[in-house]
Amino acid sequence: MVDADDDWRQAAYEVVVEDEAGGCETVRVDSPDSVLVPWPVAPLTSRERATVSVRVLAGDGAVTPWSEPLTVEAALLEPSDWSAQMIAPAWDEDVTSSQPPCLLRREFVVTGDVVSARLFATARGIYFARVNGSAVSDSLLSPGWTSYDKRLRYQVCDVTPLVQRGDNAIGIAVADGWFRGYLAWEGKRNWYGDRTAALAQLEIRLSDGQVVTIATDTDWRAGQGPIRAADLYMGESYDARLESAAEGWDRASFDDSAWSDCVTQTFALDTLTAQASPPVRAAESLSPVSLTQTRAGATVVDFGQNLVGHLRLKSVDATDGERIVLRHAEILHEGELFTEPLRTAKQTDDYLAAGGGAVASWQPQFTFHGFRYAEIAGWRGPVPADAVEAVVCHSDMQRIGWFECSDELVNRLHDNAVWSMRGNFVDVPTDCPQRDERLGWTGDLQVFAPSAAFLYDCNGFLDSWLADLVVEQQPDGGVPFVVPCPVDADYTFPTYVAAAWADAAVIVPWVCYERFGDIGLLERQWPSMSAFVDACHRAHGGTINRELFQFGDWLDPTAPPGDASNGMTDRHLVAGAYLVRSLDLVVATAEVLGRSGDAARYRSLADDYRAVWRREFVRPDGLLSSDSQTAYALAVCFRLLESDADYTRAGARLAELCEQAGFRIATGFVGTPLICDALTTTGHVESAYRLLLQRECPSFLYPVTQGATTIWERWDSLKPSGEVNDAAMTSFNHYALGAVVDWLHRCVGGLAPLAPGYRSTRVRPLPGGGLTSARVSHVSPYGEHAVDWRLADGQFQCDVTVPPSTTAIVDLPVEGWQQRRLGSGRYRFEGYFDSLNM
Ligand code: BGC
Repeated sequence: MVDADDDWRQAAYEVVVEDEAGGCETVRVDSPDSVLVPWPVAPLTSRERATVSVRVLAGDGAVTPWSEPLTVEAALLEPSDWSAQMIAPAWDEDVTSSQPPCLLRREFVVTGDVVSARLFATARGIYFARVNGSAVSDSLLSPGWTSYDKRLRYQVCDVTPLVQRGDNAIGIAVADGWFRGYLAWEGKRNWYGDRTAALAQLEIRLSDGQVVTIATDTDWRAGQGPIRAADLYMGESYDARLESAAEGWDRASFDDSAWSDCVTQTFALDTLTAQASPPVRAAESLSPVSLTQTRAGATVVDFGQNLVGHLRLKSVDATDGERIVLRHAEILHEGELFTEPLRTAKQTDDYLAAGGGAVASWQPQFTFHGFRYAEIAGWRGPVPADAVEAVVCHSDMQRIGWFECSDELVNRLHDNAVWSMRGNFVDVPTDCPQRDERLGWTGDLQVFAPSAAFLYDCNGFLDSWLADLVVEQQPDGGVPFVVPCPVDADYTFPTYVAAAWADAAVIVPWVCYERFGDIGLLERQWPSMSAFVDACHRAHGGTINRELFQFGDWLDPTAPPGDASNGMTDRHLVAGAYLVRSLDLVVATAEVLGRSGDAARYRSLADDYRAVWRREFVRPDGLLSSDSQTAYALAVCFRLLESDADYTRAGARLAELCEQAGFRIATGFVGTPLICDALTTTGHVESAYRLLLQRECPSFLYPVTQGATTIWERWDSLKPSGEVNDAAMTSFNHYALGAVVDWLHRCVGGLAPLAPGYRSTRVRPLPGGGLTSARVSHVSPYGEHAVDWRLADGQFQCDVTVPPSTTAIVDLPVEGWQQRRLGSGRYRFEGYFDSLNM
């Protein structure tokens, strides 16, 4: 049954671009392309503005109304646009531990009426800027973390409402952040330098056409405020008694005569790049769900959700010199915070109160913590529930994907993956957000990228991270384990071709292309992608080089707690499989980019390595040398076998292994995103559901039954005995094993991309496991796609939404169903459920 079928298809579009002088150009493009199309007129130059409207023409001649006009503005595109210098306070510092953030300020007079004002700013460290007492933006932790030596992002803020005729002041606070704070697990700091600094250029256009530029230089003054130390791992210390001395530092007429001079630093302006990814912001606040007292009289607050951010004290009950200490942890042990898994990350903020009455509110500015529980010590008596909240912070990406089904535990598993993404997309895609790591581990992102790209619009976020991957890539093509890579390792080839981790160089760009249709990103990444597979080929030398360092199927449940790569799947089998996978994707990329010569060359390499893989890892009886869930999942999903019969046999063996394991999961980071797909594509849908729905440890749902609110690093981060697994490497917020949600979206919900950016989709729900309904929806660049099915009394009913200019190939488990191709519209189908049609 068709509810509303309009099969709307674009034939052409028109763009009107109006420049600042009132000039107007209208461009008509006969093209069905509606996503990431080329800019239709001459490129804007630095600071240039234009107003753009669009309308679209359908094949039948119908024309849409013009869109609301959108104003775009170019940032500073050339190093020569900058007159600012990188400045730092002139004082000496002991940089062996966390330092107070510096405050940099400058007053200036504006002699005309302000038409517009822009602040272009960045820092060596993390900063916030204020003009005339107001914050210039609500972003946090700017400029974020990039490979600072090679790429430093600057932020652009419209500060027109803040600048006034007459006296003005600008202030910038800079803290250690990733630049010189503690980073990685060896207690090291000052990775990028030992002096924090800022670079800012405030450009003010006056009504008489004059442009006044206030730029960082030696006229600025430097001081300190109440923040006495700030570090991402360690936390923040605040001394409210120092507030009054710095009161008004960000306004005109502040006496900074006792402040210090500033000195300039050498800085390569060509490392500057405008920020294209969303900034980190406070996304929401959570109230406590319970408060309890510890034996020592501190209050433990439970927010009911493991999260990333910080506490906001809405009122502070303390006076002169009394210290309130806030500690954060993901779990409790006997009613107290259990902080061992944090290793050296202290995650402790403290607030030293001043005399003179109640304080309105306080929150740290330059740190973030991973926690569900917080301990508040030093408060007089119990902390009232309404005095504190948790502020959730992450890169401010738009949510674009949703899933729910009739099983509440599965829904919680899905929510846990969403929360782990939120907690680990804090400017850089990290392994975990709490212990002394929080690094851009390539393998973790590689496995989670498809899930991430469904849940949030993370194209800009990943584009920025991939630009760092490019600049961190070795001249020999190797890709470091973490990006950005603060590690000054004694690197030698071929360490950086570790399978599933370094393959992020190929797989993540491909995922962005597949999910967002961003061909420009693919073009930019091509040199990196091809250099990486070339490096792998050189490292393996046409065979499987068993001497190479590999992470293997990291953390499969049989790996000893202290030896995560030593699981049941031969790590070199994993390496060979990934080499073929990356070669296949490089072939596909070369085809998209019209590089037929490259496509042919890499195809022949992929064929060779497939043959090598089979020779090495497929036994004469057809079983694999590692008779493990992950090995078969790789063979099936990466198309490593030869004949249909081989796939049938591999699928059957995989299902058998799952059954023998009592449908407990036996995969690590590598096998987990693949196993349910491998089962479903070989016809073992019920086995996939039994794996999904298993609750005994290890399984997807075991953590959920233990009250998990994020995805755990290990299947048994908390053991059934209630003990925490090997505290040296046990996080409760690690998205990697949450990668199964991509299968929930594509196979349980039944919505998968078929053409880049979801221009065409495959609608193919696979009911099973006793589920009676599922609903999946995704806002692609074309609009909202949705599949919503329910099963009752043998009747299957399914609503499908297909957005304009896209098509869907629909396969439903309904008696007598014939595959259909749908144009845009809303549809309802129903019929007798028939699993043979799946
Ligand atoms: C991280 C992982 C990472 C791994 C690789 C761990 O410490 O937390 O998620 O991929 O190291 O060695």
